[in-house]
Amino acid sequence: EAADKGGWSSFMAKEINDQPDAVENTVRGRVSPSGVEIPELTALGDERLRGIDRIIIIACGTASYAGQVGAYAIEQWARIPVEVQLSHEFRYREPVLSDRTMVISVSQSGETMDTLMAVKYAAERGVTTVSVCNTQSATIPRESDAAVYTHAGPEVAVASTKAFVAQITALYLIGLHLGRVKGALSAEAAAQAIAQFDELPAKVREAVDTHEQIAQLAHWMADTRSVLFLGRHVGYPIALEGALKLKEIAYIHAEGFAAGELKHGPIALIDHGQPVFVLVPSPRTSPLMHSKVVSNIQEIRARGARVIAVVEKGDTAVLPYADDVIRLPLADAFFEPLLQVVPLQWFALELSTAKGLDVDQPRNLAKSVTVE
Ligand code: G6P
Repeated sequence: EAADKGGWSSFMAKEINDQPDAVENTVRGRVSPSGVEIPELTALGDERLRGIDRIIIIACGTASYAGQVGAYAIEQWARIPVEVQLSHEFRYREPVLSDRTMVISVSQSGETMDTLMAVKYAAERGVTTVSVCNTQSATIPRESDAAVYTHAGPEVAVASTKAFVAQITALYLIGLHLGRVKGALSAEAAAQAIAQFDELPAKVREAVDTHEQIAQLAHWMADTRSVLFLGRHVGYPIALEGALKLKEIAYIHAEGFAAGELKHGPIALIDHGQPVFVLVPSPRTSPLMHSKVVSNIQEIRARGARVIAVVEKGDTAVLPYADDVIRLPLADAFFEPLLQVVPLQWFALELSTAKGLDVDQPRNLAKSVTVE
């Protein structure tokens, strides 16, 4: 078993470290000089894809947060309205569906019963179903019109890490494919996104290399009882994912918020010493969002928060207000989440370890939930 962990102390540590390969392998063979082409989507027929006027992403847990990140990009690149619904909520609202709707399910295992039932419900109503899945020939991809596999390799730890970054990558590729087929995406925008994919594995590696710094931080914070996470735009689902990871494996109360929502309630939670991770958008690519998030940091710092700022290298605006700064490589806005999530994964792992818990097998949780 130790060999399977590749010398790491846990599967989760190994799988965090595998993430550069997970994104690289998921992109491979799907990008050409003419743009992104996913053969499984091409097989559906361009006419059918051009007719799609609405996309609903369904998933549970970490996969649903990958869906939330992907939704921003698909909507932007393909100009199709995208919403995300939890699989177990989907059927009960009697969703408005038509033969022009596409349902994209996201599931690492491909066996999550709630998601499978939602896919079947959609298929029975004539919807085009696409599965983003990490497990070859699992039930959900078999029940779907098309399967777009993530190539993260087998994920063993209950808390999902490399499957998450591979899911976001696959959803981005779907967005770029649909954008091309629908003629919604300019050649320049496509080329820019493709260039980002080329540089991504090396940047994810740099994010993985924050491990030492994060381990030190978690060591100091071993008795922390509550942690908050703030993010905006694609950083918002990353805040939710950072909080979920802490709950799952460190059994700590944690919540993620949209940074703009702070003043509508969560700021009341800020007390002296309250740790808050803030995912700071790039000042280069998102100057407006950046300045708003910096104001959020000032507001919580003035109320005593301990601010841990996750920033792109060279962003000095936060320095006067942050207790800790985690620096990540420069990337376009849509590619930041794939970097930002990595230190949050390490933080949960190191806090779990500091508390003497089983990182790979947290209490009460299963890797794949095959009951409704
Ligand atoms: C379980 C796991 C989570 C996972 C979720 C969805 O709750 O503990 O880590 O995110 O299922 O799993 P799936 O296989 O559908 O991605």
